[in-house]
Amino acid sequence: MQTQAETDTIDGVRTDTRTNKRKVFVKTYGCQMNVYDSERMADALSKDGYQPTDNPEEADLLLLNTCHIREKAAEKVYSELGRIRKLKEARAEDGAELMVGVAGCVAQAEGQEIIRRAPIVDLVIGPQTYHRLPQAIARARKGEKVVETEYAIEDKFDHLPEPEKKVIASRGITAFLTVQEGCDKFCTFCVVPYTRGSEVSRPVDQIAREARQLVAAGVREITLLGQNVNAWHGEGEDGREWGLGELLRLLAGIEGLERLRYTTSHPRDMDDALIAAHRDLDKLMPYLHLPVQAGSDSVLKAMNRRHTADDYLRLVDRIRAARPDIALSGDFIVGFPGETDADFEDTLRLVERVRYAQAFSFKYSPRPGTPGAERDDHIPEDVKSDRLERLQALLRKHQTEFAESRVGMTIDLLLEKPGRRPGQLIGRSPWLQPVIIDAKSSQIGEIIKVRITQTGTNSLFAEILQGESGSSTI
Ligand code: SAH
Ligand code: SF4
Ligand code: F3S
Repeated sequence: MQTQAETDTIDGVRTDTRTNKRKVFVKTYGCQMNVYDSERMADALSKDGYQPTDNPEEADLLLLNTCHIREKAAEKVYSELGRIRKLKEARAEDGAELMVGVAGCVAQAEGQEIIRRAPIVDLVIGPQTYHRLPQAIARARKGEKVVETEYAIEDKFDHLPEPEKKVIASRGITAFLTVQEGCDKFCTFCVVPYTRGSEVSRPVDQIAREARQLVAAGVREITLLGQNVNAWHGEGEDGREWGLGELLRLLAGIEGLERLRYTTSHPRDMDDALIAAHRDLDKLMPYLHLPVQAGSDSVLKAMNRRHTADDYLRLVDRIRAARPDIALSGDFIVGFPGETDADFEDTLRLVERVRYAQAFSFKYSPRPGTPGAERDDHIPEDVKSDRLERLQALLRKHQTEFAESRVGMTIDLLLEKPGRRPGQLIGRSPWLQPVIIDAKSSQIGEIIKVRITQTGTNSLFAEILQGESGSSTI
C-alpha cells in the first residue's frame, strides 16, 4: 500500500463491449482516501448508467481525482489535462462528445480557476459533494460549466449508494474503508484542512455495516482510512463515547474479517485505548504509520505539530511496550522554512532512534494559503535536495535492515493476487511488505504459514512451509 505518496491508479474493470452503456474512466492521484472516493464515485455513476473502463480512449466521461498536497502533485493534473485536450478534440472531429471532470483536492482548492486554465474541463467537483455527481454531470451535459465546491450541509456518506456486492467482489481481498474525513489540526505546511474541510467522523453503525458487507463479499483485510484516522470518535454501541481503539475492538469481532489496519495517525491522537488495542487484538496488524515530519522541536513548533521530539519518542516506546513486534512507518518533510543544519541533524537523530520499517520523505513545497508559504525564510532548493538525499539514504538503510531481519522468519501471509510470473502469488506480510511466493491461484484469499527466504528490491520472497500447503486459518 502506498501511503500518501503520489500514486496513479486507475479504477476500472473490463468493459463489456456488448452493452451500449456510457463509459467512465477514473484516474486517481494522491492518498488512499482518494482511492476509496474513486470507488464510491464509480459506484454512484454505475447506478447512473455508466460502466467503468480502464481505457481512456473509449470513455465518454473522464474523471481525474486529484491531489493538492505538493506543487508537483497539483501540476500533474494540468499536464494530464493537456493530453486529454487532444483526445477531446479528436473525439469532437468524429462528432462525439467527451466529458471531462476534475474531482478531489485540486478541485476543492482551485475551483473555477481550473476551467480558466483548462477550458476543456466541463465539471469541477470537490470531495464533499460527490453524492451530487450524477446531477452535476446532467447539468454539464446540457452545456453548463459546473463548479461544485461548496461544503455540503448533508453528509455525502448518507447519500452515496452503498457499494454493491458484485462491485466489491471485483475489488479483491483487501479494502479501504473511510471512517473519518477532514482535519482541524492546521499544520502550517498543509492544505488538507482547506481541501477536505473540518474533521468529521462517520457513525459506528454505518462503518460496521459497510465492514460486514465487505467481508460478506470476500474481503479479508480492511484498512480504516482518515486524514487523521485516530481522531475518529463516535457514540458507541454501549452509549459511551468511543475512540478508534473501541471501534477496532468492535470490528475485530466480525467473523471472516482476518486483518485490520488504519492510516494515517497523528501522534497527538494515539490514546491509551488505541495502544491497548494493539496489545489485545491479534487481528490488528503490527504496523503503524505515525508521521513525525521533523525531529527538531523548533521546527515541530513552527509546523504547529503540537508535540516535541521527545513526546514522540516516548509515545513510540509505549506503543512498542504494548506490541513489541510492531513496525513503524513515517512521513518527513525536509527544508521547512527556517530549518537549520542543526535542526536537520535532529531529524536524522530521531530516525536513528526509531528505525522505521518504511518511510516517505519530501522536500517542503510551499502551498498557497498556508502559513508556511507566507514565511520569508525559505530554504534554497539545493539545500533541500541535499537534506532529502541524506535522509532518504538513512531511511533506506533501515528499511533494508528491517526487510533482512525478516529472512528466516515464519509468518502468516494473506494471499492477495496473482504475481507477475505464472504460478506466483503476491501476499502481504503483517508489516505490509509485498511477499512473492509460488502458490495456486485458487489459494487467493487464504492466510498461509510461510518462511521468508530472501529479500527483493521492494518485496520479500517466501516458501510455503512443508505440510502447510493449502492450509488456511480462515
Ligand atoms: N495527516 C497526516 C498527513 C497527511 S499529508 C499527518 O498529520 O501526518 C501526507 C504527507 O505529505 C504528510 O505527512 C507530509 O509529510 C507531506 N506533506 C504535506 N504537506 C506538504 C508540503 N507542503 N510539502 C511537502 N510535503 C508535505
Ligand atoms: Fe495536514 Fe497536519 Fe492535518 Fe495531517 S494533521 S492532514 S499534516 S494539517
Ligand atoms: Fe492529496 Fe487530498 Fe489526499 S491533497 S494527500 S488527495 S487528502
